[in-house]
Amino acid sequence: MDQHDSSGDPASTSGAGPLAGRTALITGASQGLGKALAEELARQGAHVVMVARDAAALEAAAQAIQKRGGVAHALAADIGDKDAVHPLAGAAAALVGPIDLLIHNASTLGPTPLPLLLDTACEDLERVLAVNVVGPFRLGKIIAGSMALRGTGLLVHISSDAAVNAYPGWGAYGLSKAALDHLSRTWAAELDGTGVRSISIDPGEMNTKMHADAIPSADPATLADPAAVAARIVALLARPEAIVNGARLEASSLSMLPEAS
Ligand SMILES: NC(=O)c1ccc[n+]([C@@H]2O[C@H](COP(=O)([O-])OP(=O)(O)OC[C@H]3O[C@@H](n4cnc5c(N)ncnc54)[C@H](OP(=O)(O)O)[C@@H]3O)[C@@H](O)[C@H]2O)c1
Repeated sequence: MDQHDSSGDPASTSGAGPLAGRTALITGASQGLGKALAEELARQGAHVVMVARDAAALEAAAQAIQKRGGVAHALAADIGDKDAVHPLAGAAAALVGPIDLLIHNASTLGPTPLPLLLDTACEDLERVLAVNVVGPFRLGKIIAGSMALRGTGLLVHISSDAAVNAYPGWGAYGLSKAALDHLSRTWAAELDGTGVRSISIDPGEMNTKMHADAIPSADPATLADPAAVAARIVALLARPEAIVNGARLEASSLSMLPEAS
């Protein structure tokens, strides 16, 4: 695991938002929705730790937040790699303190063009599960334990409509997202009463690299801007009283947060 420190200026404006001083770890934060979530969380005052494999892209994303006055750190790691995930929680806590908000956003489709199940190699299914389910479980287990000891925290699992609809070709990805949803519900049931909550959110179709990889023929103009989706999700996260433990939400049904002053 490579570590890149991009901590913000202590005199930054990041202390002013509704999430001031809250700590967040976001996986898959170098591009797409994860990057947009990190940007919006930092804009609302959270201190963010960003994770992805491409260290240079991740560092650039963290530095962009820092330049705007936010607090952001980059930790390059493969969420599907057991040896990389185990040190993440400690490294993140060393940078920003105990994590209040853990967003499992990193995800892989597996090979593209998306194969039918009969054409899916077992090894490819295993890799999809390692990144999309086992990694989040491993990281969640470490961080949720710390949250439970402190009596507060939120686990957010970024899901997909492929978790509930069986689309031909989306088998490996879809079953991994269904498992992720159930992981979220099980955390919610087991941690009920501890002060730690768990939810999953389907972000809807967005104009990102993942969508282009999956459906190259899609018209980007018909897809949501990940920044707009992130704004809806962060608006919910900024209102802890509105978060129902164990819920599975669709980002399109979430309301926006008023513009930060
Ligand atoms: N886009 C859509 O229409 C759509 C629809 C429904 C659900 N979603 C979900 O929304 C989330 C974000 O998707 P997106 O469209 O923003 O994807 P994206 O643009 O492809 O970005 C994926 C991010 O995850 C990182 N990542 C991928 N594999 C990783 C690994 N093994 N370890 C650590 N980081 C990894 C990538 O960086 P590196 O490559 O550098 O690691 C990148 O930062 C995903 O959970 C996806 O399943 C997306």
